Amino acid sequence: MTKNDRANFGTKLGVILASAGSAVGLGNIWRFPYETGNHGGAAFIIIYLGCIFLLGLPIMVSEFLIGRHSRANTARAYQKLAPGTHWRWVGRMGVLAGFLILSYYSVVAGWTLEYIFEALTNGFSGKTPDEFISSFQTFSSNPWRPAIWLILFLLGTHFIIVKGVEKGIEKSSKIMMPMLFIIILILVVCSVSLPGASRGIEFLLKPDFSKVDGNVFLSAMGQAFFSLSLGMGCLCTYASYFSKKTNLTKTAFSVGIIDTIVAVLAGFIIFPAAFSVGIQPDAGPSLIFITLPNVFQQAFSGVPLLAYIFSVMFYVLLAVAALTSTISLHEVVTAYLHEEFKFTRHRAALFVTGGCIFLGILCSLSLGVTKGITIFGLGMFDLFDFVTAKIMLPLGGLCISIFTGWYLDKKIVWSEITNDGTLKVPVYKLIIFILKYIAPIAISCIFINELGLLK
Ligand code: TRP
Repeated sequence: MTKNDRANFGTKLGVILASAGSAVGLGNIWRFPYETGNHGGAAFIIIYLGCIFLLGLPIMVSEFLIGRHSRANTARAYQKLAPGTHWRWVGRMGVLAGFLILSYYSVVAGWTLEYIFEALTNGFSGKTPDEFISSFQTFSSNPWRPAIWLILFLLGTHFIIVKGVEKGIEKSSKIMMPMLFIIILILVVCSVSLPGASRGIEFLLKPDFSKVDGNVFLSAMGQAFFSLSLGMGCLCTYASYFSKKTNLTKTAFSVGIIDTIVAVLAGFIIFPAAFSVGIQPDAGPSLIFITLPNVFQQAFSGVPLLAYIFSVMFYVLLAVAALTSTISLHEVVTAYLHEEFKFTRHRAALFVTGGCIFLGILCSLSLGVTKGITIFGLGMFDLFDFVTAKIMLPLGGLCISIFTGWYLDKKIVWSEITNDGTLKVPVYKLIIFILKYIAPIAISCIFINELGLLK
């Protein structure tokens, strides 16, 4: 495929919104709060922020430059930049990671549809916090319901993917992203004004470093990669649709800032509310689904209509955020099959959707009927989450930083980052230094420490 056949994002804003749409998703609103809750709050957040700015942003710039320079799907990108070498495995591992993430991510995305349905049919009204917990458990362990929502969600993603890059991805992001932001802000105000919310705010702001261990570092790093959509060629694939004029460093910075703000705000919605109604912050993946309905009940207890409107809006928002992310995951695998195996785009997308429906249903069942079946002590859902977020993505990040820092011709790196010298990028040297030394060393140390080799 030559340069000119590939579609492009239409505008500068479109580029940022589509990338931010990929980054902002369940990772911020669902995964970030429960990881924060599991790892003790503020201290985790500080380490997480360190990972975002020190590792995440430079690696994002490198994914961007690899994608835009090669103008190909992620596996082909490495083949073009490093022909005949094993670097292409980095791209292939990314495609596999994307496929696995999409499978279990769609399960949770499906849950958001169930909650939209609950909200629409006024199913939250009059329930106690305990009832929210038990109804989530009943729902998520049911063999059928989550599977149906998951299939619907993947079909929605499929539909946007086959409409193509500019029409599908860019347009939907442009409308959805700003909407999402406004609703989040409103909900923060509601949550922090609940009675007893201050303990939740303290949990978010007052670090307790006594709880920090190697696992906290690995989780924070994994969460940073997951949330920024990094380490598997997702942003690399998007960057292959960027124009020559896109400022890669600035785009990375904007995406990083937007993503971080949304995650932290999600924390400010969840924890004040959780502490207010007595839900444990370490409830795990169910956290937002058992906490949030309480916010709507309590914050608007006198005005049921408002409770109704806000609960519907919130879950719609969450589904939308998830959709812009599933689109980006799906696109990586679809572009790979389409360009490498000469499938039509349509057919490639069908394979991806079908495969993810199959694996997604298995993941969903692992939370209910097949709960007893475990590998390394983890059910399939947890296993997919662990293997992708805590192993494949950081490993991908490690390879990407070494590739750009050491292997790739510096002329290419320089001309991509500065757009052939037309941009002044004061942090250029810093980016290269991080990619060469800091990122590889830091990621390796966190891995080695987690494997217990340092002790
Ligand atoms: N970043 C998205 C979120 O926070 C999820 C996601 C989309 C992702 N594309 C990805 C995660 C690529 C890892 C890699 O919800």
